[in-house]
Amino acid sequence: MDIGIVMNAMRDPAGLPAQPIVFQVLMVITWVLHIAFVHLALGSAGLAIIAFHRRGAGPYWERLSFGLTKVAKVAVSLLIVLGVGPLLFTQVIYDPQWYTSNVLSGRWAIAFIFTLIVGYCCWFAFYQVNHAGAKKRIGLYAWSALALFFLDGLIMHALSYQELLPQQWTQWYAPAGDVDTRGASLHAIEWARYMFIMGLSVPGVGVFLLVYAQYFAGRTDREAAYLSFAHGLGQRIAQWGFALSVPTLLAWQADLPHASGLALHPVGWLLVAGLVAMAWWMHRLNPATHGYLPAAASIALLGLLSLWREIIRTAYLRPFGYDVYTYPVHFDWPSTFLFFITLTGIGGFVGGFYLLLLYRSGRVQNCYTAERPVARLGTGALAALGLWIAVFLAYGIAISYRDGFI
Ligand code: HEM
Repeated sequence: MDIGIVMNAMRDPAGLPAQPIVFQVLMVITWVLHIAFVHLALGSAGLAIIAFHRRGAGPYWERLSFGLTKVAKVAVSLLIVLGVGPLLFTQVIYDPQWYTSNVLSGRWAIAFIFTLIVGYCCWFAFYQVNHAGAKKRIGLYAWSALALFFLDGLIMHALSYQELLPQQWTQWYAPAGDVDTRGASLHAIEWARYMFIMGLSVPGVGVFLLVYAQYFAGRTDREAAYLSFAHGLGQRIAQWGFALSVPTLLAWQADLPHASGLALHPVGWLLVAGLVAMAWWMHRLNPATHGYLPAAASIALLGLLSLWREIIRTAYLRPFGYDVYTYPVHFDWPSTFLFFITLTGIGGFVGGFYLLLLYRSGRVQNCYTAERPVARLGTGALAALGLWIAVFLAYGIAISYRDGFI
């Protein structure tokens, strides 16, 4: 059996509504947002736990633990929402690989959802009881949550990695010729890749603390000494976090198949250089440097990582004759138009308004009164939302009418 022919035959016969490159680019971009919040969630959860256990070591640890517990709570919800983007795009252009991988580890794919729910509930329990004078044993909730989040990352990793190894699918599905439909195993784990991607949570929370210190510097109720503590801690964590990510990335590089030519690919080495440069920058960080700059550079680095994942995927699948650019296209202007209008109008305009509102309101201590441009943007966002709902309904009704459903 030629697995390449099988993979191409498993493509959606309806084809794609626009060129494959559109979905590929969107997949790479949206995964950056997903993984940024994975790093923020895991990093802030880990540091919140450490800070919780260090409450007696100084005046600011407890405060930091409360703050980061809230950050992790919000970040988990955002990583879930932002995971949907790359999930949709991967399903569109890599549907044969993604679905096969999920079916081969079906029990794990389902367990992923339940463990995520239980993990998130555990974190909420910790959030509820993490107050001044809280008992040490409540840390158990937090540790359980973190362990489950790491398990979820492992499941995500295995599903992503199994996609790349179609030559082994048959053997996993029917070991020694006996069909095993249980989906009870995670068949392939590349530990270096998993450790590297998950390990970026450490510099991630370090960089976040720099942003945190910068953001609250304008608020009179946050003492300068506390913010300087957060800044110093963030700088140290980021410096060590970036430096320690280098060996795991090199281990991943060394594990790439030799014949693929990936070991010499410039993007992989650019990533290594980027990490080294970030570690060096954090080591020499000038206290006057704007706290948002390292975050911007880190996002650029995640963009490179996302691109690197895609280059790796392409190189793994090419020998089997799978190429996303040969995916059949049945151009569908209305749905493509609606999609981009939704992305820019709702995601960009309405989402941008919410972000700006949150950003501005968090900068003042008490009640926030929106400035004129923010208020106008709010009115515009509401109008855009109304228009979008109207177009969406009108389009649905028109199609249903045309097809005789109403
Ligand atoms: C605590 C929860 C989660 C963690 C720790 C996590 C972590 C990860 C990691 C580490 C990867 C990269 C794997 C690799 O390239 O080896 C990944 C990829 C991905 N994650 Fe998540 N994730 C979580 C939840 C979610 C959720 C809820 C969704 C969907 C709603 C999601 C969607 C995705 C997608 C689509 C990919 C890329 C798959 C591909 O490349 O084909 N993740 N995630």
